[in-house]
Amino acid sequence: MYRTHTCGELRLSDAGKKVTLSGWIQRSRDLGGMTFIDLRDRYGITQLVFNMEVNAALCEEARKLGREYVIQVKGQVAERENKNQKLPTGEIEIIVDELKVLNESKIPPFTIEDQTDGGEELRMKYRYLDLRRNPLRRNMELRHRMAFETRRYLDQQHFLEIETPYLIKSTPEGARDFVVPSRMNPGQFYALPQSPQTLKQILMVAGYDRYFQIVRCFRDEDLRADRQPEFTQIDCEMAFVEQEDILNTFEGLVRHLFREVKGLEFGEFPRMTWAEAMKYYGSDKPDIRFKMRFVELTSLVKGKGFKVFDDAELVVGINAKGCASYSRKEIDQLTDWVKRPQIGAAGLIYVKYNDDGSLKSSVDKFYSEEDLKLWANAFEAKPGDLMLILAGETHRARKALGELRLEMGNRLGLRNPEVYQPLWVVDFPLLEWDDETQRFYAMHHPFTSPKAEDIPMLDTRPAAVRANAYDLVINGVEIGGGSIRIHRKDLQNKMLRLLGFSDEEAQRQFGFLMGAFEFGAPPHGGIAFGFDRLCAIFGGSESIRDYIAFPKNNAGRDMMLDSPSEISREQLEELYLEIKKPKE
Ligand code: AMO
Repeated sequence: MYRTHTCGELRLSDAGKKVTLSGWIQRSRDLGGMTFIDLRDRYGITQLVFNMEVNAALCEEARKLGREYVIQVKGQVAERENKNQKLPTGEIEIIVDELKVLNESKIPPFTIEDQTDGGEELRMKYRYLDLRRNPLRRNMELRHRMAFETRRYLDQQHFLEIETPYLIKSTPEGARDFVVPSRMNPGQFYALPQSPQTLKQILMVAGYDRYFQIVRCFRDEDLRADRQPEFTQIDCEMAFVEQEDILNTFEGLVRHLFREVKGLEFGEFPRMTWAEAMKYYGSDKPDIRFKMRFVELTSLVKGKGFKVFDDAELVVGINAKGCASYSRKEIDQLTDWVKRPQIGAAGLIYVKYNDDGSLKSSVDKFYSEEDLKLWANAFEAKPGDLMLILAGETHRARKALGELRLEMGNRLGLRNPEVYQPLWVVDFPLLEWDDETQRFYAMHHPFTSPKAEDIPMLDTRPAAVRANAYDLVINGVEIGGGSIRIHRKDLQNKMLRLLGFSDEEAQRQFGFLMGAFEFGAPPHGGIAFGFDRLCAIFGGSESIRDYIAFPKNNAGRDMMLDSPSEISREQLEELYLEIKKPKE
């Protein structure tokens, strides 16, 4: 037997017991006559003691062991003289009388500590060492718990977990596909699913009216902290439901997870329409942990000779409470910040509401204190507040102000990762116009149903048509999204034509789904949660990498496997592939 107990298990009440432990050496200390070793496994750390006076040979042997050696020890549990209240096992130690080296270890390239000295790339290359660290271990445990509780809740709600294939045909989620060449079908390719969207809809046609799957999805898109080329969804679909049923069922799931995993209780999640989210927060995923809602000033500020405002489609601002004391330098910094290409504002106008009640702005030349007073009223500003204003084309001004709002939220410490504020954003537009290609795209995907009352507008004002589509947002992160689907062939055909598909193209890409819809498709709808993002948020982080055991870096590389990599000429030939490398 390798062990009778784990390294996190023994307590003072075990004193006197003979035990066997196995694990890795976290660190060792020689104090003259005594040698102490911290032995670590997944469950914790236990202190081992070797005494020169009791067993000199064993003590000498222990001194030779390096960090991360794998050892097995036998010994007796004893009460510790210097207790460590920070460790659950900190009241005991093991007086070792037998030691066996199970394996040696090279010196690790970074320290296996909570705060490590290893850079990100190095840690990804030696991911197995990084995964030994407590923070990552806790993340993996959290992820397991989340998956387990998800299954428990959905099982109670009579959902069936059904696996769908990975080697499929392109699915239209808007990113590029990863493709896999087929040896048996020369010149033909499978696509890896961007999501199981079409398959789960076919399961509804098949009568499995409550489906879910914790499933890997693949998208070839630019990577960020919250995006990986392969990621996991909690993918769900239900038949004979309306939007309200879906929102309630999955609000239930998220509430269950908060309760079971974090011990947090939530009432009903607030809801906001997409139009409100854009108008008041400049984002379709507002962080509503703090208010700082947008105030529109357009009609209030025009006609005083200030060209920037006079020419602007929208003049809009936020009230940064308590920031009137910002120095010239701080405001210049903020101005530079909004002018960066990522934010894209042309400039920033400010109004300070001084403590003495006077108002001072960067546009005093054009506006009297009386004018500024009216603005301050619109902002519901009080002495001490700083109003920050942007102007321009509506969408761009809102987007830029949305970013500035988040930045001010950060600066003012209003975005505490331990505070959770879920929000449903509903009534997304059905379509999105793209100036470059001069055509509409589906905002969600081509199977999303328009709102019944908006269907007549499909022919007249398609851009104004709202969808039965919704997102779940937590703390400004898009955690999930879904929709009620089109289940009638005539409407689906119409939608595909609006999206610029010819009948042949639609048939070629989605013929299988349209075909299935001819055999009694029930009304249905669903949602998918980004499981990695959900885990990261629960762990208090917006970066998903540390919640994935083997993630890829920003260039889409697996540093540990050194993948992607070239394949042999034979393999290429077998697949009928020829590689033309891009010129250096
Ligand atoms: P959508 O494309 O909105 O919807 O994806 C659902 C959720 O998946 C997460 N997500 C990602 N997470 C990590 N890395 C990525 N690259 C990535 N891309 C998306 C997000 C997102 O909200 N089939 C539809 C769902 C449906 O209609 O039922 C779909 O995939 O958290």
